[in-house]
Amino acid sequence: MSEKIVSDYNGYDYKKIFWEDADREYEDQADRMAIRKLLPKRMEKFADIGGGYGRLANEYLKRARKVVIFDYSKSELKQAKEIYGDKIDTKAGDIYKLPFKDGELDGLMMVRVTHHLKHLDKAVAELYRVLKPGGVAVIEVANKRTLPKIVRFITRRSKVNPFDKKVANYKEISKDGFYNYHPKYVEEIFDKVGFKRERVLSVSNFRSKGLKKVFGTKNLVKMENKAQKLLAPIRFAPSIYYKLRKPEK
Ligand SMILES: C[S@@+](CC[C@H](N)C(=O)[O-])C[C@H]1O[C@@H](n2cnc3c(N)ncnc32)[C@H](O)[C@@H]1O
Repeated sequence: MSEKIVSDYNGYDYKKIFWEDADREYEDQADRMAIRKLLPKRMEKFADIGGGYGRLANEYLKRARKVVIFDYSKSELKQAKEIYGDKIDTKAGDIYKLPFKDGELDGLMMVRVTHHLKHLDKAVAELYRVLKPGGVAVIEVANKRTLPKIVRFITRRSKVNPFDKKVANYKEISKDGFYNYHPKYVEEIFDKVGFKRERVLSVSNFRSKGLKKVFGTKNLVKMENKAQKLLAPIRFAPSIYYKLRKPEK
């Protein structure tokens, strides 16, 4: 089936604009910390789905024999190739129709992509298809039920009800769509497709300009390390990470 690409990164310098020119060291460290805790130590063939320019490649290159960075944006993939050369393969395409065979991968991750996906259920079904039985998927989900969003709703500064399981589409952030998901909704999708949920982490718990100013990035990163597991049961952070396994037949 063909799906509209909700966000086209071709020609957008994501590396420079979003990461290098912005104060996001804390967010970057928080992602890396979670990935280190969740990814298997040894994998044969691994794909970073919506991997962009390979920001997080150093977290999986040492764990997998063969690495593919998959993305819709050819300019992101070109940049990835310039940075990592022969250490990676790149593949371009659409998440809704992944160019991998059934069971081709024994590991994959998808980080900071769900906010671009209108049909998360279809994307998750594709991720499940391309994993071999016993394989692991690490998926980061943009959470709609965060503490700041709860406060904004209660004080009537936002009409989006964070407790409602339905998908939130913040058109004010991107006119094409910017999606946030309720943890329960997402977990039902994972369960329905057949994934076993092995671990959950609460990530980027202190994503706030004010907190960065008061505590400094270094201290926030230390606090984050403890909070990822501690706060996982309440699922109030902007990023929720899931370690999912496709059951053996
Ligand atoms: C916010 S970036 C995240 C990149 C990387 N995962 C990271 O965390 O740095 C989102 C990426 O998803 C890709 N993307 C969005 N929708 C896609 C789709 N339908 N198919 C393939 N890639 C897609 C974009 O091209 C972009 O590179």
